[in-house]
Amino acid sequence: MAEKIYIFDTTLRDGEQVPGAKLAKEQKLEIARQLAVLGVDVIEAGFPISSPGDLEAVQTVAKEVKGPVIAALCRVLKKDIDAAWEAIRYAERPRIHTFVATSDIHIQKKLRADREKILEMAVEAVKYAKSLCEDVEFSTEDASRTDFDYLCRTIEAVIKAGATVINVPDTVGYAIPEEFGERIRRLRERVPALDRVILSVHCHNDLGLATANTLAAIRNGARQVEVTINGVGERAGNCALEEVVMALRTRKDFIGEYETGINTKEIYRTSRMVSSLMGLVVQPNKAIVGSNAFAHSSGIHQDGILKDRATYEIIRPEDVGVPAHQFVLTARSGRHAVRHRIEEMGYSLTEEQFENVFNRFLEVADKKKEVMNEDLAIIVEEELFRIPETYRLEHVQILSATEGIPMAALKVSKKGRLVSDASTGNGPIDAAYKCIERIVKRKFRLESFNLSAVTSGKDAIGEATVRVRANGGVYLGKATSTDIVVAAIKAYLAAINKAIYFEEKEKSEKKARKRAKTA
Ligand code: KIV
Ligand code: ZN
Repeated sequence: MAEKIYIFDTTLRDGEQVPGAKLAKEQKLEIARQLAVLGVDVIEAGFPISSPGDLEAVQTVAKEVKGPVIAALCRVLKKDIDAAWEAIRYAERPRIHTFVATSDIHIQKKLRADREKILEMAVEAVKYAKSLCEDVEFSTEDASRTDFDYLCRTIEAVIKAGATVINVPDTVGYAIPEEFGERIRRLRERVPALDRVILSVHCHNDLGLATANTLAAIRNGARQVEVTINGVGERAGNCALEEVVMALRTRKDFIGEYETGINTKEIYRTSRMVSSLMGLVVQPNKAIVGSNAFAHSSGIHQDGILKDRATYEIIRPEDVGVPAHQFVLTARSGRHAVRHRIEEMGYSLTEEQFENVFNRFLEVADKKKEVMNEDLAIIVEEELFRIPETYRLEHVQILSATEGIPMAALKVSKKGRLVSDASTGNGPIDAAYKCIERIVKRKFRLESFNLSAVTSGKDAIGEATVRVRANGGVYLGKATSTDIVVAAIKAYLAAINKAIYFEEKEKSEKKARKRAKTA
């Protein structure tokens, strides 16, 4: 019988640590719900001690999302564990995930402690976490660079203290598959108590080996894998969920009979949602979910595919939910056809949301002859995951020339009140951004700016993605339009609206905490 591999998804924790990928509570909840539909076993929803906002977001996920275990991360400190428990205590199946670094370099340089002190803190933390929650996961951070005997001793001690899951992370993506698999095998030999708990691995991708290391660990006895959608995560990212799941499914002949609870047909939709909400573009050649993952360009390949798809396709696109080609939507497609397509793509909208989407669809269809699924997905996601618009673009006039000074005149509504201004700049977008700063009466630092065509053809929709820094945070704004200058302006305003939303939210939370303290 096939053995179960538990899928622990940390998109909302390790993934959210990517600069600019911060999610609003509603967005976290939306992704968590989709992860439950996808069939993950565990959702690591956040790191509650990191901010009151994150604690609240994890709490919301814990209360609302049924099915998977909901985990929260914490260091081996009482205040961290308390915050984690506060966040997940109302979950159907809560898990406290506590961690401490065990490699000498981390212990000495980062924690300025010694091995014995760290071991003692780990045991105390697990005991305390266990007094609150039955399910306790313990991670030995930087395990692949940890002295092997010390690693064994630590794992043995925390299992005795009550840990139910032991996670062995390759925190800096240093391991090589044979070596990592061997480490897992030797750990199981040296620590027989590991057979009573779930052995987990968590691989980073600094050498591009996260998936290979994870598979090597499974072949040597790991039964939980910590992964993220699209491989998002710190630095070069984490092991990608879709890669491990599809490798297990496609190469049973070599890897062995393992099963996961993942409904692979939901992979593509989840990937799109995470990319869109986190503003992290998926590279076209990304395995399984990249836009070219199932595209065949060379003549020889196309010929092979036409004769038998198996010549060049080891996975059928429909098995991971990549939408098949359907009839094209145009300005003449009625409400019924558009609603049907949206439902087929897996979205569910309220009547009001559908009306907004349909109006936007008509605007796009007026400018483009054909509206593709990708266009529609963008329109729907813009509607579904909208942050309140403090500033909204009403009108723009741009002067752009090879000679002379570029100029932008903007009319923006601020909570319903119209404000107009104009500015010059190095180019039309620079002029427009300067004009926005005059209207908002505040300066923002533009951290990154990216323009891309998200659909094909001369009439393609252009997508602008910007990151702005404000008050120590980095905020992402995305917008699409058939006019790239308009997309760039709307994206800048979207990032500013997000910054304002988070700043106001933090202020009101602070006030509420103050009131609660004095009450
Ligand atoms: O990479 C890592 O070691 C982690 C731990 C906190 C599990 O993310
Ligand atoms: Zn990590």
